[in-house]
Amino acid sequence: MNDIIYMDNHATTPIAPEVFDAMLPYLTTHFGNAASTHPFGVTAKDAVDKARHQVANLLGCSPEEIVFTSGATESDNLGIRGAAYAYRDKGNHIITSTAEHHAVLDTCHALDKEGFETTYLPVDRYGMVNPDDVAAAITPKTTLMSFMYANNEVGTINPIRVIAEIATKHGMVFHSDAVQGIGKLESDMDVLGIDMASITAHKIYGPKGIGALYVREGTRLDPLFYGGGQELGIRPGTLNVAGIVGLGAACDACQAAMKLKTEEKSVGPLRDALHQKLASQLTDIHLNGHPENRLLGNLNLNFAGVQSHALLAGLKSVAVSTGSACDSESVTASHVLVAMGIPNELAVTAVRFGLGRFNTMDEVDIVAAEVVQTVNRLRALSRE
Ligand SMILES: Cc1ncc(COP(=O)(O)O)c(C=O)c1O
Repeated sequence: MNDIIYMDNHATTPIAPEVFDAMLPYLTTHFGNAASTHPFGVTAKDAVDKARHQVANLLGCSPEEIVFTSGATESDNLGIRGAAYAYRDKGNHIITSTAEHHAVLDTCHALDKEGFETTYLPVDRYGMVNPDDVAAAITPKTTLMSFMYANNEVGTINPIRVIAEIATKHGMVFHSDAVQGIGKLESDMDVLGIDMASITAHKIYGPKGIGALYVREGTRLDPLFYGGGQELGIRPGTLNVAGIVGLGAACDACQAAMKLKTEEKSVGPLRDALHQKLASQLTDIHLNGHPENRLLGNLNLNFAGVQSHALLAGLKSVAVSTGSACDSESVTASHVLVAMGIPNELAVTAVRFGLGRFNTMDEVDIVAAEVVQTVNRLRALSRE
């Protein structure tokens, strides 16, 4: 694995060394249950409290507004289902978009089967939601809207603040799957105007299986589980102390990286260099996603005439992804690219490069050379 270059940071990120160091004691000596009152429990509870503050610091919110979950899939389910049920007396209409992650789309589909009505707004050719469409979709029965901060496949950043203003003006709850934007883009919940935000540690150099839902004070939410009353009863279950410590440390590290402008100074230039090297040596490649308003680590390209699964199989020293990681075994076009109106024959050639904090220019050179060579070889084969 050491000689494979990792460029799939939207699927997951490696654990940062400082995050691992922070977690280790809570996997060994400090194994207590944070609900226990003896010293083992108190040590665990102190660590959870510290992590809650670290997460809250990144989100510019109060620690009481953080609910720890098992990751963003659960946070999306809890936020959307929990609010849909809690506001059921006011209405049953939800608004989202066709380019959301399946954790949001499938939650809404399930609610639709239970009598809720979801409007799935189209996105533009870059994958962006139009705030005018959001305003036009509101009905007297709308209680909730959910729009992702940044798209996990094409990196396009939604106009979250404008959508939040619309939601506030109409008195409805605004949930955002903020997984890909938090820790890289503006992360202050008050600045963004979001009422509920899903985050997950493994996209920000923390461990898998731990995330959080930010819930603005005063937002009603029904729990999905019932049990021991942890997390104010909103998400009961014994706390994953080591994971929570890892999430807190990852949030701290992101704040430091944001101060140092790591994305702007390092990740963005690497991504642009990779794009430039590929574009200058290959014909017929097309960028998916917004040319400017997209995540600095994202490069989603169509290589016309080369099916993405064939390209991936040919790339021996590079780990990248076709569309979203969850779809990596499927040859059908990604729902995001379809939503953007990319023709099917082009969409099935899409490859997502996700650059991150630990990539280097040497790696970019190697990846560019291997991609150019493989695309040329596959195109030549298809002409034979
Ligand atoms: C935008 C988005 N939402 C939700 C998820 C699911 O997150 P988790 O793996 O923490 O459940 C992902 C991860 O693929 C994602 O990229």
